[in-house]
Amino acid sequence: MSMQESSIPLNISMIRLEESTVIKPFESEDKDLNDFLLNDAKNYLKSMLAVTYIYQTETEIVSYFSLLNDNLSRDNDGKPAWNKVNRAIPNEKRRHTYPAVKIGRLAVSKKYAGLGLGSLMMLTVKNMFVNEPQRAGCRFITVDAYRNALPFYQKSYFKFLTERDADDDTRTMYFDLKAVP
Ligand SMILES: CC(C)(COP(=O)(O)OP(=O)(O)OC[C@H]1O[C@@H](n2cnc3c(N)ncnc32)[C@H](O)[C@@H]1OP(=O)(O)O)[C@@H](O)C(=O)NCCC(=O)NCCS
Repeated sequence: MSMQESSIPLNISMIRLEESTVIKPFESEDKDLNDFLLNDAKNYLKSMLAVTYIYQTETEIVSYFSLLNDNLSRDNDGKPAWNKVNRAIPNEKRRHTYPAVKIGRLAVSKKYAGLGLGSLMMLTVKNMFVNEPQRAGCRFITVDAYRNALPFYQKSYFKFLTERDADDDTRTMYFDLKAVP
């Protein structure tokens, strides 16, 4: 029997994880991502290594993501891949590295998978860095995407940075925040 619910609960709110947050039950398909939220996310916060955002109801966590600063850098693949990144940057501002924010972890409860929560979180991240005043320059979103999640990020308009990781377990993907209409 599938555990999936047919709709997203109506009473979801988003919170930023704090050291005092009581972490409610959460179970996605990925054990490591469950373990991170339940056991590690607060340590990352304390160490200033990642900030975690949680979507929850009164009784359970339905999804979460965590963010950290990153950069998008030209890799040894050289020109072709990097040219794609550079295309949208004016000539005089082109660099070998650009400021970015990384989605370090992202998961949806298996009960609510396939209902649009992943897409909602992607819109939230884009919105955080496009529509809210920036405290520091940030041009790209990056992610080291799990193989099973590649189609999900492609549907959110992420692109591959390089073909060198085509056979790896995770692939570097990026999204240009300037592309948000
Ligand atoms: C990957 C994950 C975050 C997607 O979240 P979700 O809420 O199920 O995704 P959505 O319902 O918003 O799907 C958005 C689109 O991506 C597609 N999609 C999502 N997961 C997919 C998958 N594994 N394979 C193919 N397509 C997928 C959906 O079909 C949908 O397409 P549509 O817009 O044409 O209908 C979720 O399945 C998950 O938590 N998986 C386990 C953890 C994980 O892999 N995290 C990624 C770490 S990099």
